[in-house]
Amino acid sequence: MARIILLSLLSALTLVASTSILGKGLYQIPSTVQNGTSQAQFISSATGLDAPKVQPINGSAFDWWYFDVVSTDPTVLSSVVVTFFTSSQNAFPLLDASDSITVARIWVTFLNGTRWSAESDGDSATVRAAGDGSSGVWHGTGFSWIGTPAAGYVVAIDAPHIGVTGSISFRSVAPGHYPCGPIEAGQNMQVGPGIGWANAIPDAAASVNLSIGGTKLAFTGTGYHDKNWSDQVFTANVATWYWGHGRIGPYSIVWFDFIDVTGAEFVSAYAAKDNAIITASCTLGSINVRPTGQNATFPPVISTGNPSGYHIDMDLGADGKFAVDVGVLAPLNGVNPVYARAIGNISGEVVPVDGTATTRLTGMALFEQFKLTQ
Ligand SMILES: *[C@@H]1O[C@H](CO)[C@@H](O)[C@H](O)[C@H]1NC(C)=O
Ligand SMILES: *[C@@H]1O[C@H](CO)[C@@H](O)[C@H](O)[C@H]1NC(C)=O
Ligand SMILES: *[C@@H]1O[C@H](CO)[C@@H](O)[C@H](O)[C@H]1NC(C)=O
Ligand SMILES: *[C@@H]1O[C@H](CO)[C@@H](O)[C@H](O)[C@H]1NC(C)=O
Ligand SMILES: *[C@@H]1O[C@H](CO)[C@@H](O)[C@H](O)[C@H]1NC(C)=O
Ligand SMILES: *[C@@H]1O[C@H](CO)[C@@H](O)[C@H](O)[C@H]1NC(C)=O
Ligand SMILES: *[C@@H]1O[C@H](CO)[C@@H](O)[C@H](O)[C@H]1NC(C)=O
Repeated sequence: MARIILLSLLSALTLVASTSILGKGLYQIPSTVQNGTSQAQFISSATGLDAPKVQPINGSAFDWWYFDVVSTDPTVLSSVVVTFFTSSQNAFPLLDASDSITVARIWVTFLNGTRWSAESDGDSATVRAAGDGSSGVWHGTGFSWIGTPAAGYVVAIDAPHIGVTGSISFRSVAPGHYPCGPIEAGQNMQVGPGIGWANAIPDAAASVNLSIGGTKLAFTGTGYHDKNWSDQVFTANVATWYWGHGRIGPYSIVWFDFIDVTGAEFVSAYAAKDNAIITASCTLGSINVRPTGQNATFPPVISTGNPSGYHIDMDLGADGKFAVDVGVLAPLNGVNPVYARAIGNISGEVVPVDGTATTRLTGMALFEQFKLTQ
């Protein structure tokens, strides 16, 4: 099944890549920062969930497409993250200085947790939006993607110049959503002030088949795809955030707990089961994410270390209350006082509304935190 989707998506990718006529839904993005003001979209349209949301990309704007997979086997520390950036370092300070704003990046961990990463600067990028899906080609990098929220995505990489070839396929197992609700027109797309977020794939049955510097990296896991954007510099809006996704028992979950530069808290809670949304809410109280164990200072600041894990309380409505613990198993980036990404195991239980017996559920997750204030 995954293989059939992979093949049909790859043949569609060939069609898209050979399209040269600029038309509706086709975006050519130059590799240099553009002068003037950017227009950012923060209210959803009837379609276009995965389309570019900021045009043009000026010196304070960012818009990118993010994909990841974490192994569902807790004894296997394999993971992959691929991001297609259209952003300058000025807009998003975690980027390396580069002449190109159309940069493709990959980070992996091997089975034993060893990290490897590389990036490639593009000459320009082409994004094609179709329905709520999209395809993208970062010219000169060898990185491309294609897919839709309903079916899934394929990321194809042919980048021998940085030692990476192969593909990653994502077969969707949970409906896409916006920060406050399902995919539909008129949704608020700001997860916090000035930060746009659209989650095409909250969870996927993902299959990774890559060659990394001559070493094979092949595994299956829980996959994810989203995009985020702003017309303002990232650090102008964000003080702290906790984000992550995982699969735990029959549930696919995504969490966001965000503190802005004024100290105000914003959240987004998502859970799905049997490919149907149970909750997709940005109401305060729908979710609460707090650090646990070592360095559990909240809110965290630049000088506080990374925590051992997180505790998440999520309201599942008629399904009850979800209490989830996340434990860090392997960091996905090196020491960085403002940013940490990791994979970990998760466990928890749903307490039904009528208070009847709970079942302990376990799974794996990929998550991150920013802490940008002193
Ligand atoms: C932006 O403006 C500067 C100064 O006027 C100019 O040198 C540069 O070429 C412009 N860049 C673009 C992409 O138009
Ligand atoms: C980019 O556009 C935004 C939105 O119009 C504007 O607020 C910002 O100042 C612009 N940035 C630059 C560097 O011109
Ligand atoms: C971990 O796995 C990678 C990839 O197979 C290998 O290159 C590396 O030597 C391994 N490290 C250890 C400590 O075994
Ligand atoms: C993985 O990629 C290699 C090289 O591209 C290919 O020969 C092989 O068939 C792929 N395996 C799967 C399971 O897709
Ligand atoms: C966007 O979201 C991804 C994960 O969903 C995260 O890795 C990235 O740091 C976020 N960045 C911004 C600027 O929103
Ligand atoms: C807690 O912070 C200290 C100091 O930054 C660090 O050495 C330690 O590894 C952190 N603990 C965890 C679980 O990351
Ligand atoms: C993660 O796995 C370890 C080792 O099995 C276990 O001790 C720990 O309780 C688990 N943590 C979570 C949050 O499930």
